[in-house]
Amino acid sequence: MPLFFELAYFVMEKREDSCVCLRVFLARLFAYLIHSIKFKPLRKSGVFLRLKGGIRLLDKEYMKLALQLAKSVKGQTTPNPPVGAVVVKDGAIIGFGAHLKSGEEHAEVIALQMAGEKAHDATIFVTLEPCSHDGKTAPCADLIIKKGIKRVVIACTDYHEKVAGSGIMKLTKAGIDVEVGLLHKEALQLYDVFFHYIKNKLPYVTVKSAVSLDGKIATAKGDSKWITNKTARTDVHHYRHCHDAILVGINTVLNDNPRLTTRIQNGKNPVRIILDTHLRTPLHANVVTDKQAETWIFVGERVSAERKEPFKNNQFVRIFTVESEKIDIKNVLRIVALEGITSVFVEGGATVNDAFLQKNLMNQFIMYIAPIIIGGKNAKTSFAGEGFQKLTEALEFQIKQVEKMDDNLKIVAVRKG
Ligand SMILES: NC(=O)c1ccc[n+]([C@@H]2O[C@H](COP(=O)([O-])OP(=O)(O)OC[C@H]3O[C@@H](n4cnc5c(N)ncnc54)[C@H](OP(=O)(O)O)[C@@H]3O)[C@@H](O)[C@H]2O)c1
Ligand SMILES: [Zn+2]
Repeated sequence: MPLFFELAYFVMEKREDSCVCLRVFLARLFAYLIHSIKFKPLRKSGVFLRLKGGIRLLDKEYMKLALQLAKSVKGQTTPNPPVGAVVVKDGAIIGFGAHLKSGEEHAEVIALQMAGEKAHDATIFVTLEPCSHDGKTAPCADLIIKKGIKRVVIACTDYHEKVAGSGIMKLTKAGIDVEVGLLHKEALQLYDVFFHYIKNKLPYVTVKSAVSLDGKIATAKGDSKWITNKTARTDVHHYRHCHDAILVGINTVLNDNPRLTTRIQNGKNPVRIILDTHLRTPLHANVVTDKQAETWIFVGERVSAERKEPFKNNQFVRIFTVESEKIDIKNVLRIVALEGITSVFVEGGATVNDAFLQKNLMNQFIMYIAPIIIGGKNAKTSFAGEGFQKLTEALEFQIKQVEKMDDNLKIVAVRKG
């Protein structure tokens, strides 16, 4: 049955390689029906790998698996990137793995450990260029060479200054057949956060907003629980899980007393960042008392030591004093980046969202739309403030995803350029 879904997928997606995929599908269908059947190679290029039963699978399928492994750990490897690896020999998967946590083994190490002696002459599919430098762990490129791997297929090169091509060079010099770029687009999407972080030394910023059909984020009186449906709200929790930090303005803390935690099974709680110039965060606020995650409160330089004192004994709360009266969000992003935060999920409200808009510090915008109309000229929209005066000044985005979430709609847009 899954094979038929696969076929439907190829047809519906109108993939460039649908003809090839269809042939592979038919080959797999035959193999599925008559297990022992042997096929001649569909193509003698490296695109297909020999399977024990005689059928060939696309390299793509193995890379897809490696990407899936990497996706499954997105958000838990900070400040490292999520990486997946699959080791294949004679058409059989003999090892796979993902880098689970910073400081722990890289994906290649786990996959090669699982493959053991069989790794000799095998192919390894890895989502990111293997590392070549001594870090917290030994270089993966060295291990690949030592294990006698014959071919390395890489989805994308690593922009990290310590790697940036040197892993590929090392492998090539050792006489290994290296191919780069398989499912490159998908891999780039996976590494949007990591590459942005290492290139700009700033976290990747996603601003999220939940709005009514008329674009309101709350009623004129500030009532905002709940505009969107449960499916949309659960989706937000998945984003929280994948981000290193959530950021809100003090008004949201005062109005909603949010917990800002991840409430899905095995969810990871991000650091909670509050912009609060005058340290108005109440001592009884959920983000202060619940001990579920760290809360970092950014305050202005005028906040007195006495005001900060009651927070001092709370090991979950850190107060960052910025050396100006107003809190500059770029400065906040720089500081949290130094603390190892690679991604920030901004959950508003309108004033804070607007600060990100005005400073052009938004990499992605996610909007959930509920089929209600709130109305009211004083009811807030996603971005407070004056906005841009000319259309030519408006920030341009590219729609990446549109998804129906029961009766709600989700739009994901990424910043152009
Ligand atoms: N539907 C949704 O998706 C959603 C999401 C979140 C919130 N909300 C709603 O939005 C409302 C709150 O929005 P809001 O616009 O009133 O306030 P807000 O964005 O939550 O907080 C704004 C406050 O943050 C502080 N701040 C410190 N530094 C800042 C900076 N650089 N840029 C911007 N703000 C900074 C300022 O207070 P100080 O000067 O005191 O520091 C500012 O007034 C609530 O009613 C909440 O329910 C809706
Ligand atoms: Zn490595």
